[in-house]
Amino acid sequence: MFLCWCLSLVALIPLTTSTNPGVKVKLTAKGIEYGRQLAVASILQKLKTIKLDDMSGKVRVSPIGKVKYSLKNMKMVEVGLPTAALDLVPGTGPKLSIVNANFRLHGNWRVRKHFVKDSGSFNLNADDISFSTSLSIKTDPTGRPAVSSIDCGANIGKMSVRFRGGASWLYNLFKKSISSAIQKAMQKKICPLVANAVSDLNNNLKTLNVLAKVDKFAEIEYSMVASPAVSKTSIDIGLKGEFYNIGKHQEPPFSPAVFSLPPQINNMLYIGVSSFTIESAAFVYNTAGALSLYITDDMIPTISPIRLNTRTFGVFIPQIAKRFPGLMMKLLVKMAKAPVITFEPNNATVQSFASVTAYAIQPNATLTPLFVLNLVSSVGARVFVSGTRLAGAVTLNKMDLTLGTSDVGDFQVGILNSILQTVLNFVVIPRMNAQLAKGYPLPTLGKMNLVNTQLLVLKDHVMIGTDVQFTG
Ligand SMILES: *[C@@H]1O[C@H](CO)[C@@H](O)[C@H](O)[C@H]1NC(C)=O
Ligand SMILES: *[C@@H]1O[C@H](CO)[C@@H](O)[C@H](O)[C@H]1NC(C)=O
Repeated sequence: MFLCWCLSLVALIPLTTSTNPGVKVKLTAKGIEYGRQLAVASILQKLKTIKLDDMSGKVRVSPIGKVKYSLKNMKMVEVGLPTAALDLVPGTGPKLSIVNANFRLHGNWRVRKHFVKDSGSFNLNADDISFSTSLSIKTDPTGRPAVSSIDCGANIGKMSVRFRGGASWLYNLFKKSISSAIQKAMQKKICPLVANAVSDLNNNLKTLNVLAKVDKFAEIEYSMVASPAVSKTSIDIGLKGEFYNIGKHQEPPFSPAVFSLPPQINNMLYIGVSSFTIESAAFVYNTAGALSLYITDDMIPTISPIRLNTRTFGVFIPQIAKRFPGLMMKLLVKMAKAPVITFEPNNATVQSFASVTAYAIQPNATLTPLFVLNLVSSVGARVFVSGTRLAGAVTLNKMDLTLGTSDVGDFQVGILNSILQTVLNFVVIPRMNAQLAKGYPLPTLGKMNLVNTQLLVLKDHVMIGTDVQFTG
């Protein structure tokens, strides 16, 4: 007894403290390479906008003494980032290193010494520029990832200035001190700029659909359950991946099990959707009462010889024909509990437990209950990605009927198999499939397209491998 109690207590603990993700996202080296390209483009764009404030100062030059100089209208003309690497530092985050960068700057110069005045323009070439920064990825208060630049360092290796206009004997005297002043000023600008470019990435990350609306019943929560795990070859992100009733977040009586994505590298991104996520959907729809359906004769295709009336049913259960002649019938299919979803390699199965209540429709529209059946059915599911949504289609594997209660005497339920199969195949399943075909939103950022997408059904989860394209 005590042991039982202990075990049940242990079983309960994960309910309240578990932070196992329902959805896992793995960003592979290929995905990180794409991220690098986006980051470099963004940094390049930023560097092009770099503006140096006007500078002025005095330099002592022999033999003429102190000379006042000013530099104005300095503008970036060209920036090159020939080598950029984004490496993953396990436990920390990605590290962006740029070496051999260069830029060209144009500006105007002016010097004064008593009555000597001179001015002209200059071109400045900076080469051998290197900078590196580590990126920290944390969870922001909304559960979205947020990156920031830490430990940034920048160095400008070589600098050369070429003056134009004015007297060369004069500017050659102070060229060196001016170029070192610019070098210092420039060096100070790079890291704040990189930090800025990195924090701009957050505008994109903020578009993560942490609460994705599905329909009038449900929404999916995709907030991060912990900070991303960075290994040498991937960044792994755990998302909640749980369906909730809109506005009312009631936890289901089960929680996500641990699952791990297999080591795949061909796509940029791998998304693992656990059976927990799908079961939480089933829980939500069932709780919302959305998994019940009244079935009337007009819903059954006219080609079917099986009709929902007391004549058809009376053939199998004579009492029905005798007591309720010439009446139409109605069935209420209602989930008894949330369906169970099983993912095994190449096999997605949904087992559902429903009750089927049969009514005769009296001429005054009153429904007279005839009998209640318990229906356990198993459907095989084909799961696929449609756009940025996870969709599905099911077909009936098998069904099992038992008699619940009867107001029309005892009968062998087996004789109703063909009727129920017709109802499932022609009414219930097409309706489910119409719903499933609409799909459920996957975690996405901004205007993201999925390309080269493949999906595998694996143990306890489905794995989507995909490349990503951002369109604006
Ligand atoms: C899938 O698994 C279910 C049991 O979970 C089994 O009944 C069914 O036959 C399997 N289907 C295939 C195609 O293997
Ligand atoms: C409707 O008809 C049935 C059967 O004739 C009868 O038992 C029932 O009382 C009627 N209900 C109403 C509301 O008239």
